[in-house]
Amino acid sequence: MKKNQLPTVLYGGDYNPEQWPSDTWDDDIQVFKKADINSATVNVFSWSLLEPAEGQYNFSMLDKIIDKLTAADFKIVLATSTAAMPAWMFKKYPDVARVDYQGRRHVFGQRHNFCPNSENYRRLAKDLVAKLAQRYSDNSHIVAWHINNEYGGNCYCENCQHAFQRWLQQKYQTLDQLNRAWNNNVWSHTIYHWDEIVVPNELGDAWGPEGTHTIVAGLSLDYLRFQSEALRDLYRMEKATIEEYDQKTPILTNFHSTPNKMIDYQSWAADQDIIAYDSYPAYNDPAYKPAFLYDLMRSLKHQPFMLMESTPSQVNWQPYSPLKRPGQMRATEYQAIAHGADTVQYFQLKQAIGGSEKFHGAVISHSQRTDTRAFQEVAQIGHELKKVGKTFLGSQVPAKVGIIFDWNNFWSYEYVAGISQEMDYVGSILDYYRQFYERNIATDIISVDDDFSQYDLIVAPVLYMMKDGLAGKINDYVSEGGQFITTYMSGMVNTSDNVFIGGYPGPLKDVLGIWVEETDAMVPGQHTKVVFEKGEKTAEGHYLCDLIHLTGERTETVAQYDSEFYAGTPAITVNSFGKGKAWYVGSRLDHDGLSNFMDGVIRSAGIQGVISTPTDLEITKRVNDSGQSIYFVLNMRNEDRKLPDELVNGWTDLLTGQQPEPNMRGWDLRILVHD
Ligand code: GLA
Ligand code: ZN
Repeated sequence: MKKNQLPTVLYGGDYNPEQWPSDTWDDDIQVFKKADINSATVNVFSWSLLEPAEGQYNFSMLDKIIDKLTAADFKIVLATSTAAMPAWMFKKYPDVARVDYQGRRHVFGQRHNFCPNSENYRRLAKDLVAKLAQRYSDNSHIVAWHINNEYGGNCYCENCQHAFQRWLQQKYQTLDQLNRAWNNNVWSHTIYHWDEIVVPNELGDAWGPEGTHTIVAGLSLDYLRFQSEALRDLYRMEKATIEEYDQKTPILTNFHSTPNKMIDYQSWAADQDIIAYDSYPAYNDPAYKPAFLYDLMRSLKHQPFMLMESTPSQVNWQPYSPLKRPGQMRATEYQAIAHGADTVQYFQLKQAIGGSEKFHGAVISHSQRTDTRAFQEVAQIGHELKKVGKTFLGSQVPAKVGIIFDWNNFWSYEYVAGISQEMDYVGSILDYYRQFYERNIATDIISVDDDFSQYDLIVAPVLYMMKDGLAGKINDYVSEGGQFITTYMSGMVNTSDNVFIGGYPGPLKDVLGIWVEETDAMVPGQHTKVVFEKGEKTAEGHYLCDLIHLTGERTETVAQYDSEFYAGTPAITVNSFGKGKAWYVGSRLDHDGLSNFMDGVIRSAGIQGVISTPTDLEITKRVNDSGQSIYFVLNMRNEDRKLPDELVNGWTDLLTGQQPEPNMRGWDLRILVHD
């Protein structure tokens, strides 16, 4: 077993038996078995039970839980419990609690609220993890260590401020360099001593919701980088502690959100043996959004990931949580598998009777009955995974399109003050992702550090911040035959958020063969008409409209504006550069208009969909170790659809062992292999 592999598809999720009398546990396990649940994640939030006072440990309950699951032959995901601190810890060491963005020191309560730079928290967490690792590492039923839980959120305390000053000293060496990087002559911000630097919270240089407004972007960005690294350092500390006792079992933490803005998951990925992701799409999220997030998670290590949490029915924390319609839950769980997940895990296996999550869905609900709609659906998935899981376990999702998603751009772009308040990084990326999704073209969601040469087409919407070397890497990629798309607000600033002088789009000017002189901002309700050079097609330009000059000898206009004083000037351009092509889209286009553009690019780049028939079914392909292709066909709508003819004759549905039934009801799915 390699450290990045699971022995089997895990089906299960968070189980909190400590909330129940121990004489109910056997019954729970029997119920789980009825649904072919084979795994449980335990000990996620038990610190106060494990360590009732400093240095006094009590593992008797956890021993019992682990013994029972082991005897029942469950695969155990063992968490380290460090995400929720016991009350005594706050009382004894107030510095373990985070100071928030408003500058307020927190008191006991909630969870995910430790200061990453508290020496007390670090020491106490390390001690607990060492005890756990020592005690349980020889249990072969433990298939993964789950560190902490959903890391995220920043601390603005004095300890963090001091650590930040040291971090900056390391990074910049001299205050001269720091002042230059932060462009501190603006508004009298020059720093003369390292200890004058304060954290960028609401009392200082930032305002508005955290991560949205700042006076000194260089400072605020460095703080986000610093906090992301400080949390990663905590994660690494726990990981290294476990590794002292166990070098074989995969170690990971669960990523979350859409995606979590505060943590640079790409820089964390190397430390995860397997990527794990908690997925809670909202009722009104379009189906391409979770698909995008799954592709992002898979691409972090270019290997299968774990769907670590999802709800078997409702959540209780979104503004509205309608029931998932019959079949919808099954379709959404398989959507993760279709995009590269090797597990289906729920939060949670048994519904709590108290606490804030008592109305959150669970496999065993308050009724404690198994004849419920939700349980039947859970059981159906369990039986199916038992049958087909080994066919797709470990399989890859090959993709020839890479879409760049970059946390430094996520942060810096959304800090931009002006010229529109609609700086929406994820939204701009999703515009393009959706184009591929609707054509069933597989995409990786990559970082700027990925190997570009494996892709025929790279799309980099709003590549606003460019680190050293990136422009050269893009130039090489295109000149060697790659196809590249970028947009408005690209090539603007260096990693300190200072603008490249000499005209936009800075270091991308050569490869794109353009100069952007000015940018117009569309006010609410306004858009600019865009017409394509060839044919009758049009688009609407929203949000921003770049006023573009062609500067390259081989640059052409693909579409031009048809309104405002810049009517007749280029809106979309393409430059032939070496053996490849680079497109620039100067405005945020409406969906159909962007689709008109993408048709041309996809044709020019020779990109193929997973099948050739256009369909609004979602279709992905995974390829297993023996080279077998497995096709996942999902109807992500509550409407009947027909399986395309090219997937009927000569195909077998792994779920039935028969030729696939072409009529697909709403939320139905097929898992197909060619005969
Ligand atoms: C998160 C947490 C879980 C639980 C779920 C509820 O993902 O990790 O502990 O609170 O949300 O949806
Ligand atoms: Zn702190």
